[in-house]
Amino acid sequence: MRKDKTKVFFLITIVCAISGFLFHFKSIQDAYFTLSAQNSKTQNHRRDTVRYICHKNNLTSSPWKIKHSVARQLYVEHTHKFIYCEVPKVGCSNWKRIILLLNSSLGLTVDELKHNNVHISPLLRRLSFYSPKMQAELFNNYTTVMFTRDPLERLVSAYRDKFLHDEEHYYSKTMANMIKRSVRKNGNSTERLSFKEFASFIVSENAYYRDIHWRPMLELCDPCNIHYDIIGKFETIKQDAAYVLRSIRAPKDLEYPDIKHYANETRTNDLISKDYFRSLPKELFKKLMNVYRYDFSMFEYNPSI
Ligand SMILES: *[C@@H]1O[C@H](CO)[C@@H](O)[C@H](O)[C@H]1NC(C)=O
Ligand SMILES: *[C@@H]1O[C@H](CO)[C@@H](O)[C@H](O)[C@H]1NC(C)=O
Ligand SMILES: *[C@@H]1O[C@H](CO)[C@@H](O)[C@H](O)[C@H]1NC(C)=O
Ligand SMILES: *[C@@H]1O[C@H](CO)[C@@H](O)[C@H](O)[C@H]1NC(C)=O
Ligand SMILES: *[C@@H]1O[C@H](CO)[C@@H](O)[C@H](O)[C@H]1NC(C)=O
Repeated sequence: MRKDKTKVFFLITIVCAISGFLFHFKSIQDAYFTLSAQNSKTQNHRRDTVRYICHKNNLTSSPWKIKHSVARQLYVEHTHKFIYCEVPKVGCSNWKRIILLLNSSLGLTVDELKHNNVHISPLLRRLSFYSPKMQAELFNNYTTVMFTRDPLERLVSAYRDKFLHDEEHYYSKTMANMIKRSVRKNGNSTERLSFKEFASFIVSENAYYRDIHWRPMLELCDPCNIHYDIIGKFETIKQDAAYVLRSIRAPKDLEYPDIKHYANETRTNDLISKDYFRSLPKELFKKLMNVYRYDFSMFEYNPSI
């Protein structure tokens, strides 16, 4: 009798443990399922919005041929069949690090990639390297990804990085002097380029030659003709990057790194960028917003401060 009771008790314990385990497993599975359902819903919505704005504004070309300037923004990773469009100031250095890490034959580690040199790494392959026929084939077979950011923040981030630091001589001296000569009465004065001068330059420069750090995302990645599989946002980069990495079946332990160029500075955020824009005259602000109008509408950012 006593022995039976023990047996029953033992049995119940086991059943509870197993069902607990299954239930737990199922809830993890459900959570995973909900997350990926949410992700694909978000992606559908983003792609639909881009398609709608492109169509509404006649921005889709037919027949279409990829521009060389766009093919140069696209990086190809063959192991995971991944094509990434580089938008400067939208976490692109970290994506380049990922692309280098994904190529296991290079055997690199995150630590080795901490610094600036990813931008000039000869190990990165641009789509422009391939023949037009091969480019078309890669588009068809590979997962294409681009990341966007609030155009206001992206612009402030470009200004702070390129013109408030003296490290990169090309921007802080050559480019700054060129801009000063074009917008200042006394072009050779040595005062630092102001944000207002930078903005005045952008609205008056020849768009064809616009630098990639402030060229609209629409022109950099041509999303009206290249139908990106995944459109990520800088604002939700952790979540969106994880989704990209899962989608391309990257190794499970590979995480999107969080490395900033100027590690001791606050990342450009909403508040910082609003402060910059409030300092601009209304007319100038309006013209500037016009330059980025499609970036705002197709990627759903709010052009007000
Ligand atoms: C759309 O753009 C094409 C050239 O890209 C032009 O030929 C056509 O007339 C435009 N259509 C509309 C409705 O604006
Ligand atoms: C890895 O990188 C090397 C050097 O750039 C390149 O030759 C090779 O094709 C890459 N492998 C893959 C699978 O992309
Ligand atoms: C693309 O996919 C097709 C059909 O699956 C295959 O024949 C071709 O070799 C692939 N091309 C590349 C570059 O992977
Ligand atoms: C700017 O250059 C002009 C002529 O090159 C010169 O006369 C003037 O003194 C310079 N101004 C400053 C502030 O250097
Ligand atoms: C950040 O560090 C650099 C040197 O690495 C220094 O020149 C700069 O003044 C620092 N900036 C701030 C805001 O502390």
